Amino acid sequence: MKFKIKTYKHVWEYDLSNGVTTINPRKRYPLHFLSFFSKKFNILAKSKDVEKDPSIIYKYFVSKDDIDVQTERADIFNEILKGYDIDFKDKTVLDISGGNGVFVKRFLKHGAKSVTNTEYSADAVNYSKNVLKIDSFKFDLNNDKLSKTLKNSKFDIIMLRGCIEFCDDLSNLVKELKLITHKNSFLVLNFIDPTLGAALRTMFDQYNVRVCRPPDIVQKYFTKNDFVTKKNTEIFLFDRNFAYKRLIWPSTPFYIYYLILALFKIHKHKYPRDFHSLDCKAALLILNRKNNST
Ligand SMILES: C[S@@+](CC[C@H](N)C(=O)[O-])C[C@H]1O[C@@H](n2cnc3c(N)ncnc32)[C@H](O)[C@@H]1O
Repeated sequence: MKFKIKTYKHVWEYDLSNGVTTINPRKRYPLHFLSFFSKKFNILAKSKDVEKDPSIIYKYFVSKDDIDVQTERADIFNEILKGYDIDFKDKTVLDISGGNGVFVKRFLKHGAKSVTNTEYSADAVNYSKNVLKIDSFKFDLNNDKLSKTLKNSKFDIIMLRGCIEFCDDLSNLVKELKLITHKNSFLVLNFIDPTLGAALRTMFDQYNVRVCRPPDIVQKYFTKNDFVTKKNTEIFLFDRNFAYKRLIWPSTPFYIYYLILALFKIHKHKYPRDFHSLDCKAALLILNRKNNST
């Protein structure tokens, strides 16, 4: 059984049996016409350019701000992963949907032997290939084969941060990941849990995540394919502050309105799992291959 939570631009459809939530765009936005009166209300309308090419929302990847953020994030991840005995020294590292590539390149400073980036945004691929001069490939989680894109190379550490939420067929991705790992490889996944906080935070994003899965469900896809969980935990979502900074006029009344509507629905369904959380939780899952699997 499923229930639906409406936000301004999406419908979050939550499966009560497992917590998997699919996110579908609404065909029409309720107050889109207000954008004719003032640019201030553009957030309430649909952008035709984004509709035509969703990857343009990632143009910010080549901005100075994002470059600084990604450097800092890599250092933080290096520290966090050290705590779980993952050392980048002499490792081959792959970042899937890694944005501008600054993040993965930074691991060369932490001793990595080589780094590779894949991206959905063409601008980001061009940046990491031509400016950073690291191996970079255009890769769409829903239309390309990872092993083919990466020419069957194998990597010691593969990171997937904030991207499996865009992947429709996780089972297929896991099979592909198996092809580019060896028996000592690590996978590091970081992704959004389906929560009301995540639904409200992304309410005005025209191109939003497509499916949010609770960490235990994500784990199952991997254990079916000879991976074992080394760590299942949570980390601070770096853009959480940014998200709540958007709680300003004219957005605020919408947050309040959709929060109240959602609370009624959630109450009716007895507060399932922690979808009712207003926290935009980010899972951190570290996996490796079963020792005897090839
Ligand atoms: C929230 S950003 C995360 C970027 C980066 N990994 C980070 O953590 O800063 C979402 C990422 O998913 C990528 N993405 C969106 N749709 C995708 C698709 N269909 N295939 C592959 N990547 C996709 C975007 O290009 C972007 O890099």
